[in-house]
Amino acid sequence: MKRVCMVGTGYVGLVTGTCLAEVGNKVICVDKDESKISTLKAGKIPIYEPGLEPLVRKNSKAGRLSFSTSVADAVRASEIVFIAVNTPPQKDGGADLSFVEACTREVARAANKYTLLVEKSTVPVKTGERIRKTLEVLSQSKSFVEVASNPEFLREGTAVNDFLNPDRIIIGVQSKKAEAMMRDLYKKIKAPIIVTDINSAELIKHASNSFLAMKISYINAIAQICEKVGADVEKVAEGMGYDKRIGRSFLNAGIGYGGSCFPKDVSAFIKISEEVGYDFKILKGAAAVNEDQKSHVLKTLKEALWTFKDKTIGILGLSFKPETDDLRNAPAIDFIQTLLDEQAQVKAYDPVAMEKMKQLFPTVEYCDSPYKAAQKADALLIATEWKEFSQLDLKRIKKIMNTNIIIDGRNIFDPTAMKKMGFTYHCIGRSPKAFEN
Ligand code: UDX
Repeated sequence: MKRVCMVGTGYVGLVTGTCLAEVGNKVICVDKDESKISTLKAGKIPIYEPGLEPLVRKNSKAGRLSFSTSVADAVRASEIVFIAVNTPPQKDGGADLSFVEACTREVARAANKYTLLVEKSTVPVKTGERIRKTLEVLSQSKSFVEVASNPEFLREGTAVNDFLNPDRIIIGVQSKKAEAMMRDLYKKIKAPIIVTDINSAELIKHASNSFLAMKISYINAIAQICEKVGADVEKVAEGMGYDKRIGRSFLNAGIGYGGSCFPKDVSAFIKISEEVGYDFKILKGAAAVNEDQKSHVLKTLKEALWTFKDKTIGILGLSFKPETDDLRNAPAIDFIQTLLDEQAQVKAYDPVAMEKMKQLFPTVEYCDSPYKAAQKADALLIATEWKEFSQLDLKRIKKIMNTNIIIDGRNIFDPTAMKKMGFTYHCIGRSPKAFEN
């Protein structure tokens, strides 16, 4: 069992802190946001993450998990301190590491015994070296604080399961002592533990996320070719996926990747590569394809409607993916912005993300059901593949829409069935020619 301080209670910090408590460690989650900490102390969680709230309650009750706004107190009560603060993108695409630097300073000031300071936030390679330099400058006497890297691979919506059943645990360390402490921390989790130097551990995170983003852009590029030649990208993905070296996952063509990680990590990786003298052309291509994909979907919608002005468009799904309320880099934001700029009326439905979208676009009509969003709509755009959308009563949808144009940005419906029902149906990478029978 280890005594842990988790600095930052966002999507990563809160899940990691709670699950480290779940596997037997004693964890203090710290955040400077007092309202967040009081919500957590009341047993409520400020984010939508399936399965997290009961774990927070259980571990708080068992005395393994607590919450505080004081980094200093929590550092002094711990032997391992995780940096789980946000690393938002800067205008130049690089990662803003000011929160990481501020956290490092606070820990350096507070540490009064040997402390392992572990990077949990996704940071560009060589950040560990910069943390070490900050510690050297700040430590009044012999520096007690050693640095390590332990990147996370959690997906929103399945974060608890991803933490407790990881494909691997990456530990970037500089000493056997640090390695032993990290192994002890994770001893109850059955997964390969890969021990590396700190730079390699930092690179594994950026390299993994960017590869996944590239894989998505690759299948989206294949989808565009399928539309031009009359092929079916779902079949192409299926055929590719049987090759174990490729694998079927993350080959779902759609409206492009969003979220708090892929866009940010791809631009940060391109930036840090430039800084160390490498022009990451293939990754720039993946980012460009992702932007193209969103404009391709809007172009399809526009061709179906001719103009957006005074048209009513229903959007089903706002979050960047199902099972989360997170809107960061959600393609729906680009779609709504364009539609409003061109004076369309926008109606929207999402099972959990509407409250957050209201802050961004108050003039959108938020509906309490997908049918309300479809009512009198000239077109319906599926932007997130929430399970409930694939079970819609399409006959009812057809009856209540003004014109029955559906742009299925996530390929949740069967094109032949949609055609038979009389919809003007567009999807991604499945040109009508592929369904003439
Ligand atoms: C991702 C990584 O998967 C995770 O390992 C890392 O720790 C954080 O970033 P997340 O962003 O939460 O996780 O979600 P993910 O399921 O990876 O989806 C990211 C985006 O890719 C979503 O917008 C999703 O819609 C899109 N996507 C995913 C596709 O368009 N096609 C796919 O086949 C898979």
